[in-house]
Amino acid sequence: MGKKIKVGIIGVGGISGVHIRGYQALPEDVELYAFCDIDEKRLKEKGEKHGVTRLYTDYNEMLKLEELDAFSVCTWNSEHAGATIAALNAGKNVLCEKPMSITNEEAAAMKEAADRNGKLLQIGFVRRFGNDCKILKEFIDNGDLGDIYYAKATYLRRNGCPGGWFGDKSRSGGGPLIDLGVHVIDLVRYLIGNPKPVSVYAATFDKLKNRPDVVKNSGWRSETITEKDIFDVEDLASVMIRFETGQVLHIEASFSLNIKKGQGDIELFGTKGGAKLDPELEIFSEWNRYMTNTQLDMSTSLSFDGLFENEIAHYVDCVKNGTKTIAPAEDGVELMKILNAAYESARTQHEVIIK
Ligand SMILES: NC(=O)c1ccc[n+]([C@@H]2O[C@H](COP(=O)([O-])OP(=O)(O)OC[C@H]3O[C@@H](n4cnc5c(N)ncnc54)[C@H](O)[C@@H]3O)[C@@H](O)[C@H]2O)c1
Repeated sequence: MGKKIKVGIIGVGGISGVHIRGYQALPEDVELYAFCDIDEKRLKEKGEKHGVTRLYTDYNEMLKLEELDAFSVCTWNSEHAGATIAALNAGKNVLCEKPMSITNEEAAAMKEAADRNGKLLQIGFVRRFGNDCKILKEFIDNGDLGDIYYAKATYLRRNGCPGGWFGDKSRSGGGPLIDLGVHVIDLVRYLIGNPKPVSVYAATFDKLKNRPDVVKNSGWRSETITEKDIFDVEDLASVMIRFETGQVLHIEASFSLNIKKGQGDIELFGTKGGAKLDPELEIFSEWNRYMTNTQLDMSTSLSFDGLFENEIAHYVDCVKNGTKTIAPAEDGVELMKILNAAYESARTQHEVIIK
């Protein structure tokens, strides 16, 4: 309980909706206080929809509201660093959507601003808050998989570029790798103990692009779609990441791929057992000399019900009560090193060493 924290949102497009829902689920702790968006029409609509009257088209103006405690930064990726650093320098706490930034330098400057101002910077690594992650982590922490030495993950869409700025490299920083790959790289890294990355080898492709003439059947859509959207990012990425622990992770992420249906597998391989997430958690091990496959007698597939609410509730708890975040800026910095090394490796066709 105690005093309610006052929260502002920078960027009130698609994903802000789930942040807003998360804050609204905590009426005792949070007052949704101000919105900012460079699109005036969207700003007015969202203000009216959610009963927020303090509306700004420039975040520097909004940051003059001294009484504001915390922000969600939900802009497109190229604006994350500017908005986050301005908010931290104004003495506010920030939950910044993934990916943390576009460049490694931006990510380091964001973390430095948080440290210098003694404020919280949480990164929107929402998969860390999933029901599936929680259960699998319990088995890992209990030692049931032994030493995990190899992992594979996919986040493959058959025809799923969200449009708008997502295909515009100057605003997104890249395609499915920085947008989707970031989720599964972070999830696996979190599950295996946040090891430091030491090298990356990657290939990217842009053979199919965003397939504007092919009917899309599902998937996330940006609220900023226009007729003039450009697509100058990769449509498929395949990446191998080596960590200082010797652990290796291979991931694939696509916006466009001739595959039967989308895939979101997470597979971990340990000395005592293996595990696979999606659709249900399965554990592969040995029992009494026989190979066994185990499933829990409950649903373990990723549920979106409460997923973002858990993330927001954790952020509010950290802001209000000084709880240590489980998705800190330092992990965002490491993720940006992996993503940028992957793009460099794809460009140079060589392994890239991370210092
Ligand atoms: N965690 C997840 O699963 C998830 C899902 C979707 C999107 N995202 C992330 O959320 C962010 C936004 O994505 P989206 O789908 O909501 O995009 P969107 O296009 O629907 O909305 C982005 C909004 O930001 C606004 N904006 C841009 N620059 C701004 C600035 N300087 N000041 C104020 N407003 C600004 C735009 O006008 C727009 O309204 C991205 O970083 C994306 O990667 C995360």
